[in-house]
Amino acid sequence: LSSGPLSGKHVVVTAGPTREPIDPVRFITNRSSGKQGYALALALAQLGARVTLISGPTNLGVPPGATRIDVESAQQMCDAALEAAKNADLFVGAAAVADYRAAEIAGEKIKKKGEAMSLALTRTDDILVRVRAAQPDLFIVGFAAETEKLEAHAREKLTKKKLDLIAANWVGQGRAFDRDDNQLSVFWDGGGRELAQAGKDQLARELAALIVERLHIDNKK
Ligand code: C5P
Repeated sequence: LSSGPLSGKHVVVTAGPTREPIDPVRFITNRSSGKQGYALALALAQLGARVTLISGPTNLGVPPGATRIDVESAQQMCDAALEAAKNADLFVGAAAVADYRAAEIAGEKIKKKGEAMSLALTRTDDILVRVRAAQPDLFIVGFAAETEKLEAHAREKLTKKKLDLIAANWVGQGRAFDRDDNQLSVFWDGGGRELAQAGKDQLARELAALIVERLHIDNKK
């Protein structure tokens, strides 16, 4: 679309899980399907944006209107995000980024040995924190997947990561991950809105419209 509220805007979306290698044949990952992030990339493209979708491994096709950059590890996603964010008007971090990676990646397949084994892990960089540090004025949207105290935890992330908006959902017990429907509670400084249970495509359109609304209010400040 050459018209639409986001025409002329460059939007960057991260989506999907990351894969943190342990050795040449093994990695650590999570249950993210990428569906919500891909649906959001499509919804934002349909509002006229030029969308760069930075994606971990998923089974999904590239949404029409988006250009996809494929990555695996959190480090690769972070590098791609920092590069794409340089000329972005809006950044949406929908990826389920690993919090830890192997402290060392073995060059050869690790052999079994003994009854127990442990793996040293180290923290990954927080992509949203890095993007904010590099782009102080960029409008940044984060996600929060929580199993308890949804609003308190989401608002804590909003503040700590200096986000403009955060979309939170309940996870665990079969909720959200790898499903076609979801429910979102959206928070910003001084406000919030509930987006009721719906298909991820429908929810993505509602969230995209809310992002546009907040983006315009923010730009007028
Ligand atoms: O702190 P938590 O992982 O719950 O925050 C979730 C939000 O932070 C999501 O938007 C996710 O994409 C982002 N995130 C990130 N880099 C990480 C971990 C999470 O950008 N290393």
